[in-house]
Amino acid sequence: MRKILITGGAGFIGSNFVIYMKGAHPGDRLIVLDKLTYAGNLENLKGIKDGEGFRFVKGDINDFELLDSLFQKEKIDIVVHFAAESHVDRSISGPRSFIETNINGTFTMLEAARRHWPGVADAAGKRFLHVSTDEVYGSLGPTGYFTEETPYSPNSPYSASKAASDHLVRAYFHTYGLPAVTTNCSNNYGPYQFPEKLIPLMIINALTGKPLPVYGDGQNVRDWLHVEDHCRAIDAALEKGRPGETYNIGGRSERKNIDIVKLICSIIDEKAASDKGFAGEYPLDGSRTSLIKYVTDRPGHDKRYAIDCKKIESAAGWKAEENFESGIRKTVDWYVENRSWWERIMSGEYMDYYDRQYKGLAKMPKTQS
Ligand code: NAD
Ligand code: TYD
Repeated sequence: MRKILITGGAGFIGSNFVIYMKGAHPGDRLIVLDKLTYAGNLENLKGIKDGEGFRFVKGDINDFELLDSLFQKEKIDIVVHFAAESHVDRSISGPRSFIETNINGTFTMLEAARRHWPGVADAAGKRFLHVSTDEVYGSLGPTGYFTEETPYSPNSPYSASKAASDHLVRAYFHTYGLPAVTTNCSNNYGPYQFPEKLIPLMIINALTGKPLPVYGDGQNVRDWLHVEDHCRAIDAALEKGRPGETYNIGGRSERKNIDIVKLICSIIDEKAASDKGFAGEYPLDGSRTSLIKYVTDRPGHDKRYAIDCKKIESAAGWKAEENFESGIRKTVDWYVENRSWWERIMSGEYMDYYDRQYKGLAKMPKTQS
C-alpha cells in the first residue's frame, strides 16, 4: 500500500486528484493536508470517508512539526504537492500569502521530505511530485511554445512565487538527492473550480445574469487542460517520471479569452432555448453575450501561453483526451447541476472580492499585504 501525502487536496485540482486516485488506485492510502483557506472546501471530498484508505488533516504546510509527525506516523512514500495560493489577481492585490505559502511552504515541505528520506540510496519508491504552472515561463508572442528548456521569466507575484518554489525543488534534487519531479501545466478547468477563475466565473455570471468582465481586449490566449486529463498526467508522472526532471502538461487547446466567454454564452443560450424552466429563472432577451463587459486590463497581463508537451507524451505515454468543446459543455452542465456548491461560496466571504472583480481591477485595493 503506497502512502501518499496530498497537500491542497481540498482545493480544485487536489480534490479532483483525490477522487481520481480513489478510482484508479483504490489500494493506496491518501493523506490530505489542507489549511482550508477560502479556496479549500471539504464539500469537494464529501463522498470520501476517513478510514484505512483516506485521512484528512487540517493544517498548514509551513508547520514543520506537523509535517514531521505526518511523515513519521504515516510513513509517507509519495508527496503530491498542490497546496498554493493560486490566483493571479489575488497575488496582485495581496502578494504576501503567495510568498508565505508558495515559497516558504514549499521549502518547509522539502525540509520535511529531506529529513525523512535521507539521500537517493535510501529513497527507493519515494517521490516528491511538485505541481507547478506554465506561467513560470512568462509570456509568448503569437507563435512558439513553452518547452522544458524555456528560460524562466515570471511576470506576476503568483508566477514568481511558483518559479521560486520550482527552483527550490530543483536544488533539493541536485544538492540532497531528493527524488523530486516537477510538472508545469497549463490552465485547468472542470468541476469544483473556485469561481474566481475565468471559466467558472463566466459560467456562474452567465447563469445568474451578471456582467461578464473581460480584461483588456479579450485577445489573451491560454492553453486549456481538463482537470481529469491533468490528474491522469500526474499519475503518469508519478509512475514514469524521472527524479530531477520536469514535465510540461498541456491540453493542445489554445483559445482566446473572448472566444471562451462567447462559447459559454452560446451553450447557456442553447440550454435556455430548449428548457423553458431554466430560461424562466433568469430571463434574458437575446444572447447572454450582451452581458460581456470589457474592463480595465490586469496589470502585467501575459499575452499568450502555449505548451509543448511532447516530453511527457513520449516519456510517460500520456496524452490529453478531452476535447475543449465537449469538456466545456460538461463543465457548464456540472455548474448547472451543482448550484448549491457555488451558491454557498458566493454568499460567503468571497462575495466582497467578487463584487470588486466585475467592476474592474482598477477598483481593487492597490496594496493589501
Ligand atoms: P486552489 O486555489 O483551488 O486550491 C489550493 C488549495 O491549497 C486549497 O485547498 C487551500 O486551502 C490549500 N492551501 C493554501 N495554502 C495552504 C497552506 N499554507 N497549507 C496547506 N494548504 C493550503 O488551487 P488549484 O487551482 O487546485 O491549484 C493547485 C496547484 O496547481 C497549485 O500549486 C497551482 O499553482 C497549480 N496550478 C494550477 C493551475 C490551474 O489552472 N488551476 C494551473 C497550473 C498549476
Ligand atoms: P484566470 O482564470 O485568472 O487564470 P490565469 O490568470 O492563471 O491564466 O484567467 C484566465 C484568463 O482570463 C486570463 O487571461 C485573465 C482572463 N480573465 C478575464 O478576462 N476576466 C476575468 O474575470 C478573469 C478571472 C480572468
